[in-house]
Amino acid sequence: MKEFPNPALTKDEALAALDTAAALVKQNLPMFTHVCQNHSSVNDIYPTCKNDQWTCGFWPGEIWLSYERTGDSAYRDAALVLVDSFMDRIVNKIEVDHHDMGFLYTPSCVAAYKLTGSETGKQAAILAADQLISRFQEKGQFIQAWGALGAADNYRYIIDCLLNVPLLYWATETTGDAKYADIAHRHVTTCLANSIRPDGSTYHTFFMDPVTGGPVRGATCQGYKDDSCWARGQAWGVYGTALSYRYTKRPEYLDAFRRVLAYYLERLPDDLVPYWDMTFISGDEEPRDSSSASIVACGLLEAAKYVDEAEAARYTKLAAQMLGSVVKYYAVTEGPIGVGLVRHGTYSKKSPYNTCTPEGVDECVSWGDYFYMEALTRFVRDWELYW
Ligand code: GLY
Repeated sequence: MKEFPNPALTKDEALAALDTAAALVKQNLPMFTHVCQNHSSVNDIYPTCKNDQWTCGFWPGEIWLSYERTGDSAYRDAALVLVDSFMDRIVNKIEVDHHDMGFLYTPSCVAAYKLTGSETGKQAAILAADQLISRFQEKGQFIQAWGALGAADNYRYIIDCLLNVPLLYWATETTGDAKYADIAHRHVTTCLANSIRPDGSTYHTFFMDPVTGGPVRGATCQGYKDDSCWARGQAWGVYGTALSYRYTKRPEYLDAFRRVLAYYLERLPDDLVPYWDMTFISGDEEPRDSSSASIVACGLLEAAKYVDEAEAARYTKLAAQMLGSVVKYYAVTEGPIGVGLVRHGTYSKKSPYNTCTPEGVDECVSWGDYFYMEALTRFVRDWELYW
Protein backbone atom coordinates (compact mmCIF):
# COMPACT_ATOMS: atom_id res chain seq x y z
CA MET A 1 0.00 0.00 0.00
CA LYS A 2 1.26 3.46 -0.90
CA GLU A 3 2.78 5.43 2.00
CA PHE A 4 3.24 9.20 2.36
CA PRO A 5 5.71 11.44 4.23
CA ASN A 6 3.04 13.96 5.36
CA PRO A 7 2.77 14.91 9.04
CA ALA A 8 0.02 13.19 10.99
CA LEU A 9 -2.52 15.05 13.08
CA THR A 10 -2.08 14.52 16.83
CA LYS A 11 -4.97 13.79 19.19
CA ASP A 12 -4.57 17.21 20.84
CA GLU A 13 -4.70 18.93 17.46
CA ALA A 14 -7.79 16.92 16.55
CA LEU A 15 -9.53 17.88 19.79
CA ALA A 16 -8.70 21.55 19.21
CA ALA A 17 -10.03 21.34 15.63
CA LEU A 18 -13.22 19.68 16.86
CA ASP A 19 -13.71 22.43 19.44
CA THR A 20 -13.24 25.09 16.78
CA ALA A 21 -15.80 23.34 14.56
CA ALA A 22 -18.31 22.99 17.41
CA ALA A 23 -17.92 26.71 18.21
CA LEU A 24 -18.66 27.62 14.57
CA VAL A 25 -21.70 25.31 14.63
CA LYS A 26 -22.93 27.08 17.78
CA GLN A 27 -22.42 30.45 16.16
CA ASN A 28 -24.53 29.28 13.18
CA LEU A 29 -27.39 27.71 15.18
CA PRO A 30 -29.63 30.83 15.10
CA MET A 31 -29.43 30.86 11.30
CA PHE A 32 -30.15 27.15 10.73
CA THR A 33 -32.61 25.81 13.31
CA HIS A 34 -36.01 26.59 11.79
CA VAL A 35 -34.70 26.35 8.24
CA CYS A 36 -32.00 24.18 6.69
CA GLN A 37 -28.52 24.82 5.34
CA ASN A 38 -28.00 24.91 1.57
CA HIS A 39 -25.94 22.10 0.00
CA SER A 40 -22.98 24.43 -0.58
CA SER A 41 -21.78 27.86 0.40
CA VAL A 42 -21.49 31.03 -1.65
CA ASN A 43 -18.10 32.60 -0.91
CA ASP A 44 -17.87 30.32 2.15
CA ILE A 45 -21.27 31.43 3.60
CA TYR A 46 -24.21 29.03 3.43
CA PRO A 47 -27.58 30.37 2.30
CA THR A 48 -30.64 28.92 4.04
CA CYS A 49 -33.02 26.51 2.30
CA LYS A 50 -36.21 24.57 2.97
CA ASN A 51 -35.94 20.95 4.07
CA ASP A 52 -36.12 19.79 0.45
CA GLN A 53 -32.51 19.05 -0.63
CA TRP A 54 -30.72 15.68 -0.47
CA THR A 55 -28.10 17.26 1.77
CA CYS A 56 -30.28 18.59 4.61
CA GLY A 57 -29.28 15.80 7.02
CA PHE A 58 -25.65 16.84 7.32
CA TRP A 59 -26.14 20.06 9.27
CA PRO A 60 -28.19 18.32 12.00
CA GLY A 61 -25.41 15.70 12.04
CA GLU A 62 -22.88 18.45 12.78
CA ILE A 63 -25.13 19.67 15.59
CA TRP A 64 -25.31 16.15 17.07
CA LEU A 65 -21.53 15.75 16.87
CA SER A 66 -21.13 19.12 18.61
CA TYR A 67 -23.59 18.00 21.29
CA GLU A 68 -21.57 14.82 21.82
CA ARG A 69 -18.36 16.81 22.13
CA THR A 70 -19.68 19.46 24.52
CA GLY A 71 -22.81 18.13 26.24
CA ASP A 72 -24.34 21.60 25.69
CA SER A 73 -28.14 21.25 25.55
CA ALA A 74 -28.45 24.20 23.11
CA TYR A 75 -27.23 21.84 20.37
CA ARG A 76 -29.63 19.06 21.35
CA ASP A 77 -32.62 21.41 21.45
CA ALA A 78 -31.86 22.81 17.99
CA ALA A 79 -31.29 19.37 16.48
CA LEU A 80 -34.62 18.14 17.85
CA VAL A 81 -36.43 21.06 16.17
CA LEU A 82 -34.89 19.88 12.89
CA VAL A 83 -35.91 16.26 13.60
CA ASP A 84 -39.56 17.41 13.60
CA SER A 85 -39.08 18.90 10.14
CA PHE A 86 -37.62 15.58 8.92
CA MET A 87 -40.73 13.78 10.18
CA ASP A 88 -42.90 16.29 8.31
CA ARG A 89 -40.81 15.78 5.18
CA ILE A 90 -41.16 12.00 5.08
CA VAL A 91 -44.84 11.93 6.13
CA ASN A 92 -45.73 14.47 3.45
CA LYS A 93 -43.30 12.96 0.90
CA ILE A 94 -41.53 16.25 0.22
CA GLU A 95 -38.72 15.63 -2.30
CA VAL A 96 -38.15 12.02 -1.30
CA ASP A 97 -38.53 10.39 -4.73
CA HIS A 98 -34.85 9.47 -4.85
CA HIS A 99 -32.46 7.18 -2.98
CA ASP A 100 -30.82 9.66 -0.61
CA MET A 101 -32.82 8.59 2.42
CA GLY A 102 -29.68 7.50 4.28
CA PHE A 103 -27.86 10.77 3.76
CA LEU A 104 -30.98 12.59 4.95
CA TYR A 105 -32.21 10.48 7.85
CA THR A 106 -29.10 8.89 9.35
CA PRO A 107 -27.16 11.92 10.68
CA SER A 108 -30.39 13.71 11.64
CA CYS A 109 -32.95 11.17 12.90
CA VAL A 110 -31.03 7.93 13.59
CA ALA A 111 -28.54 10.10 15.50
CA ALA A 112 -31.41 11.68 17.47
CA TYR A 113 -32.74 8.24 18.37
CA LYS A 114 -29.33 6.88 19.36
CA LEU A 115 -28.35 9.92 21.43
CA THR A 116 -31.67 10.90 23.05
CA GLY A 117 -34.07 8.01 22.44
CA SER A 118 -36.21 10.32 20.27
CA GLU A 119 -39.24 8.30 19.10
CA THR A 120 -39.88 10.89 16.38
CA GLY A 121 -36.37 10.33 15.09
CA LYS A 122 -36.81 6.55 15.15
CA GLN A 123 -40.20 6.57 13.39
CA ALA A 124 -39.10 9.09 10.77
CA ALA A 125 -35.99 7.03 9.99
CA ILE A 126 -38.03 3.81 9.64
CA LEU A 127 -40.42 5.58 7.24
CA ALA A 128 -37.35 6.75 5.31
CA ALA A 129 -36.04 3.18 5.14
CA ASP A 130 -39.43 2.07 3.76
CA GLN A 131 -39.18 4.83 1.16
CA LEU A 132 -35.67 3.68 0.23
CA ILE A 133 -36.61 0.03 -0.30
CA SER A 134 -39.60 1.11 -2.40
CA ARG A 135 -37.02 2.02 -5.05
CA PHE A 136 -35.53 -1.48 -5.23
CA GLN A 137 -35.66 -2.98 -8.71
CA GLU A 138 -35.94 -6.78 -8.78
CA LYS A 139 -34.79 -6.73 -12.39
CA GLY A 140 -31.13 -5.93 -11.92
CA GLN A 141 -31.21 -6.12 -8.09
CA PHE A 142 -30.48 -2.48 -7.30
CA ILE A 143 -31.94 0.61 -5.68
CA GLN A 144 -32.80 3.10 -8.42
CA ALA A 145 -31.11 6.41 -7.66
CA TRP A 146 -33.12 9.04 -9.41
CA GLY A 147 -36.23 9.70 -11.48
CA ALA A 148 -39.49 7.88 -12.09
CA LEU A 149 -39.29 4.24 -11.01
CA GLY A 150 -38.60 1.98 -13.96
CA ALA A 151 -37.97 4.82 -16.45
CA ALA A 152 -35.60 3.42 -19.08
CA ASP A 153 -33.45 6.57 -19.19
CA ASN A 154 -32.95 6.44 -15.40
CA TYR A 155 -32.70 2.69 -14.86
CA ARG A 156 -29.50 2.98 -12.88
CA TYR A 157 -27.91 3.16 -9.47
CA ILE A 158 -24.97 5.32 -8.34
CA ILE A 159 -21.98 4.57 -6.12
CA ASP A 160 -23.10 7.19 -3.58
CA CYS A 161 -25.89 4.80 -2.50
CA LEU A 162 -23.32 2.85 -0.48
CA LEU A 163 -23.88 5.54 2.18
CA ASN A 164 -27.67 5.20 1.96
CA VAL A 165 -27.79 1.47 2.66
CA PRO A 166 -26.55 1.69 6.29
CA LEU A 167 -30.04 3.08 7.05
CA LEU A 168 -31.32 -0.33 5.97
CA TYR A 169 -28.95 -2.26 8.25
CA TRP A 170 -30.11 -0.02 11.10
CA ALA A 171 -33.78 -0.55 10.20
CA THR A 172 -33.34 -4.33 10.35
CA GLU A 173 -31.55 -4.10 13.69
CA THR A 174 -34.24 -1.80 15.07
CA THR A 175 -37.41 -3.45 13.73
CA GLY A 176 -36.22 -7.08 13.58
CA ASP A 177 -37.46 -7.23 9.96
CA ALA A 178 -34.76 -8.78 7.74
CA LYS A 179 -36.16 -7.30 4.51
CA TYR A 180 -34.18 -4.06 4.84
CA ALA A 181 -30.74 -5.65 5.25
CA ASP A 182 -31.58 -8.19 2.56
CA ILE A 183 -32.19 -5.42 0.03
CA ALA A 184 -29.04 -3.66 1.21
CA HIS A 185 -27.00 -6.79 0.54
CA ARG A 186 -28.54 -7.38 -2.88
CA HIS A 187 -27.91 -3.77 -3.90
CA VAL A 188 -24.32 -3.74 -2.65
CA THR A 189 -23.60 -7.02 -4.47
CA THR A 190 -24.81 -5.49 -7.75
CA CYS A 191 -22.86 -2.31 -7.13
CA LEU A 192 -19.55 -4.01 -6.36
CA ALA A 193 -19.90 -6.37 -9.34
CA ASN A 194 -20.29 -3.54 -11.85
CA SER A 195 -19.08 -0.24 -10.51
CA ILE A 196 -15.46 -1.10 -9.70
CA ARG A 197 -13.18 -1.27 -12.72
CA PRO A 198 -10.24 -3.73 -12.84
CA ASP A 199 -7.82 -0.98 -11.75
CA GLY A 200 -9.89 -0.19 -8.63
CA SER A 201 -11.36 3.08 -9.92
CA THR A 202 -15.14 3.44 -9.94
CA TYR A 203 -17.94 4.56 -12.21
CA HIS A 204 -20.19 7.21 -10.72
CA THR A 205 -23.44 5.82 -12.15
CA PHE A 206 -24.29 2.47 -13.71
CA PHE A 207 -27.17 1.66 -16.07
CA MET A 208 -28.94 -1.70 -15.96
CA ASP A 209 -31.17 -3.26 -18.60
CA PRO A 210 -34.83 -2.84 -17.61
CA VAL A 211 -35.82 -5.90 -19.64
CA THR A 212 -33.10 -8.43 -18.82
CA GLY A 213 -31.77 -6.89 -15.59
CA GLY A 214 -28.22 -7.24 -16.93
CA PRO A 215 -25.47 -4.60 -16.65
CA VAL A 216 -25.38 -2.09 -19.51
CA ARG A 217 -22.75 0.61 -18.98
CA GLY A 218 -21.05 2.94 -16.54
CA ALA A 219 -21.50 6.69 -16.95
CA THR A 220 -20.78 9.82 -15.02
CA CYS A 221 -22.91 12.68 -13.85
CA GLN A 222 -20.56 14.69 -11.60
CA GLY A 223 -17.19 13.28 -12.67
CA TYR A 224 -15.13 14.65 -15.55
CA LYS A 225 -16.14 11.98 -18.06
CA ASP A 226 -17.62 8.49 -18.18
CA ASP A 227 -14.30 6.66 -17.97
CA SER A 228 -12.59 8.97 -15.45
CA CYS A 229 -12.90 8.61 -11.67
CA TRP A 230 -14.94 11.19 -9.75
CA ALA A 231 -13.07 11.77 -6.48
CA ARG A 232 -16.12 11.83 -4.26
CA GLY A 233 -17.56 8.73 -5.87
CA GLN A 234 -14.30 6.96 -5.04
CA ALA A 235 -14.57 8.26 -1.47
CA TRP A 236 -18.15 6.97 -1.17
CA GLY A 237 -16.74 3.65 -2.39
CA VAL A 238 -14.06 3.60 0.32
CA TYR A 239 -16.32 4.49 3.22
CA GLY A 240 -19.37 2.62 1.92
CA THR A 241 -17.58 -0.72 1.56
CA ALA A 242 -16.14 -0.37 5.09
CA LEU A 243 -19.63 0.29 6.48
CA SER A 244 -21.22 -2.64 4.66
CA TYR A 245 -18.39 -4.84 5.94
CA ARG A 246 -19.15 -3.68 9.47
CA TYR A 247 -22.73 -4.94 9.25
CA THR A 248 -22.24 -8.11 7.19
CA LYS A 249 -18.61 -9.23 7.66
CA ARG A 250 -18.64 -10.40 4.05
CA PRO A 251 -14.97 -10.73 2.94
CA GLU A 252 -15.74 -9.48 -0.56
CA TYR A 253 -16.73 -6.10 0.89
CA LEU A 254 -13.37 -5.74 2.64
CA ASP A 255 -11.62 -6.84 -0.54
CA ALA A 256 -13.51 -4.13 -2.46
CA PHE A 257 -12.51 -1.59 0.21
CA ARG A 258 -8.84 -2.39 -0.30
CA ARG A 259 -9.02 -2.16 -4.10
CA VAL A 260 -10.91 1.14 -4.14
CA LEU A 261 -8.61 2.60 -1.47
CA ALA A 262 -5.46 1.55 -3.36
CA TYR A 263 -6.57 3.42 -6.49
CA TYR A 264 -7.54 6.48 -4.44
CA LEU A 265 -4.10 6.62 -2.77
CA GLU A 266 -2.28 6.29 -6.11
CA ARG A 267 -4.00 9.38 -7.49
CA LEU A 268 -3.59 11.76 -4.56
CA PRO A 269 -1.69 15.02 -4.92
CA ASP A 270 1.01 15.96 -2.43
CA ASP A 271 -1.27 17.32 0.29
CA LEU A 272 -3.51 14.21 0.22
CA VAL A 273 -6.64 16.15 -0.76
CA PRO A 274 -7.81 15.05 -4.22
CA TYR A 275 -8.78 17.15 -7.16
CA TRP A 276 -12.51 16.90 -7.88
CA ASP A 277 -11.83 14.16 -10.42
CA MET A 278 -8.90 11.78 -10.08
CA THR A 279 -7.96 12.22 -13.71
CA PHE A 280 -6.27 15.42 -12.46
CA ILE A 281 -2.97 15.21 -10.59
CA SER A 282 -0.47 17.53 -8.88
CA GLY A 283 0.03 20.70 -10.87
CA ASP A 284 -3.37 20.72 -12.56
CA GLU A 285 -5.23 23.98 -12.03
CA GLU A 286 -8.47 22.33 -11.08
CA PRO A 287 -10.48 22.69 -7.87
CA ARG A 288 -10.07 20.19 -5.05
CA ASP A 289 -12.77 18.26 -3.31
CA SER A 290 -11.77 18.46 0.35
CA SER A 291 -14.92 16.54 1.35
CA SER A 292 -13.47 13.41 -0.27
CA ALA A 293 -10.50 13.47 2.09
CA SER A 294 -12.71 13.57 5.20
CA ILE A 295 -15.00 10.83 3.85
CA VAL A 296 -12.00 8.58 3.14
CA ALA A 297 -10.57 9.29 6.61
CA CYS A 298 -13.86 8.03 8.09
CA GLY A 299 -13.63 4.89 5.96
CA LEU A 300 -10.04 4.25 7.03
CA LEU A 301 -10.89 4.61 10.71
CA GLU A 302 -13.90 2.29 10.32
CA ALA A 303 -11.94 -0.37 8.40
CA ALA A 304 -9.11 -0.23 10.97
CA LYS A 305 -11.44 -2.04 13.38
CA TYR A 306 -11.60 -5.19 11.26
CA VAL A 307 -8.07 -5.84 10.03
CA ASP A 308 -4.86 -7.03 11.68
CA GLU A 309 -2.75 -4.70 13.79
CA ALA A 310 -0.25 -3.73 11.09
CA GLU A 311 -2.94 -2.93 8.53
CA ALA A 312 -4.97 -1.04 11.15
CA ALA A 313 -1.92 1.04 12.06
CA ARG A 314 -1.41 1.96 8.38
CA TYR A 315 -5.05 3.03 8.03
CA THR A 316 -5.00 5.08 11.22
CA LYS A 317 -1.79 6.83 10.16
CA LEU A 318 -3.19 7.59 6.71
CA ALA A 319 -6.36 9.03 8.24
CA ALA A 320 -4.25 11.19 10.58
CA GLN A 321 -2.18 12.43 7.63
CA MET A 322 -5.25 13.28 5.55
CA LEU A 323 -6.91 15.03 8.47
CA GLY A 324 -3.67 16.82 9.28
CA SER A 325 -3.77 18.40 5.85
CA VAL A 326 -7.48 19.28 6.03
CA VAL A 327 -7.07 20.88 9.47
CA LYS A 328 -3.96 22.84 8.46
CA TYR A 329 -4.80 24.00 4.95
CA TYR A 330 -8.57 23.74 4.47
CA ALA A 331 -10.41 24.20 7.77
CA VAL A 332 -12.11 27.47 8.66
CA THR A 333 -11.19 28.84 12.08
CA GLU A 334 -13.42 31.91 12.21
CA GLY A 335 -15.90 33.84 10.11
CA PRO A 336 -19.28 35.55 10.07
CA ILE A 337 -22.53 33.74 10.86
CA GLY A 338 -23.29 31.16 8.18
CA VAL A 339 -19.65 30.37 7.45
CA GLY A 340 -18.79 26.74 6.66
CA LEU A 341 -16.23 24.54 8.39
CA VAL A 342 -14.02 23.38 5.49
CA ARG A 343 -13.10 25.25 2.32
CA HIS A 344 -12.35 23.92 -1.16
CA GLY A 345 -15.07 21.33 -1.56
CA THR A 346 -16.63 20.74 -4.96
CA TYR A 347 -20.25 19.69 -5.37
CA SER A 348 -20.69 19.56 -9.17
CA LYS A 349 -18.26 20.94 -11.71
CA LYS A 350 -19.38 21.04 -15.33
CA SER A 351 -17.07 19.47 -17.89
CA PRO A 352 -17.54 19.10 -21.65
CA TYR A 353 -18.43 15.45 -21.02
CA ASN A 354 -20.61 15.27 -17.90
CA THR A 355 -24.30 15.87 -17.29
CA CYS A 356 -24.35 17.79 -14.00
CA THR A 357 -25.61 21.26 -13.20
CA PRO A 358 -22.63 23.35 -12.05
CA GLU A 359 -23.00 24.12 -8.33
CA GLY A 360 -20.80 24.67 -5.31
CA VAL A 361 -17.39 24.63 -7.02
CA ASP A 362 -14.49 25.40 -4.66
CA GLU A 363 -16.83 26.12 -1.76
CA CYS A 364 -17.72 24.70 1.62
CA VAL A 365 -20.11 21.78 1.15
CA SER A 366 -22.50 20.58 3.81
CA TRP A 367 -21.36 16.92 3.81
CA GLY A 368 -17.71 18.05 3.76
CA ASP A 369 -18.29 19.86 7.04
CA TYR A 370 -20.18 16.89 8.52
CA PHE A 371 -17.62 14.21 7.58
CA TYR A 372 -14.79 16.46 8.76
CA MET A 373 -16.36 16.53 12.22
CA GLU A 374 -17.14 12.81 12.08
CA ALA A 375 -13.57 11.94 11.10
CA LEU A 376 -12.14 14.08 13.91
CA THR A 377 -14.56 12.47 16.37
CA ARG A 378 -13.60 8.99 15.17
CA PHE A 379 -9.94 9.92 15.48
CA VAL A 380 -10.10 11.08 19.10
CA ARG A 381 -12.25 8.30 20.52
CA ASP A 382 -14.10 5.06 19.93
CA TRP A 383 -17.26 6.63 18.51
CA GLU A 384 -20.67 4.92 18.42
CA LEU A 385 -21.51 5.74 14.84
CA TYR A 386 -24.80 7.09 13.44
CA TRP A 387 -24.53 5.06 10.19
N1 GLY B 1 -24.40 12.22 -3.49
C1 GLY B 1 -24.15 13.29 -4.35
C2 GLY B 1 -22.81 13.88 -4.18
O1 GLY B 1 -21.95 13.29 -3.52
O2 GLY B 1 -22.61 14.96 -4.70
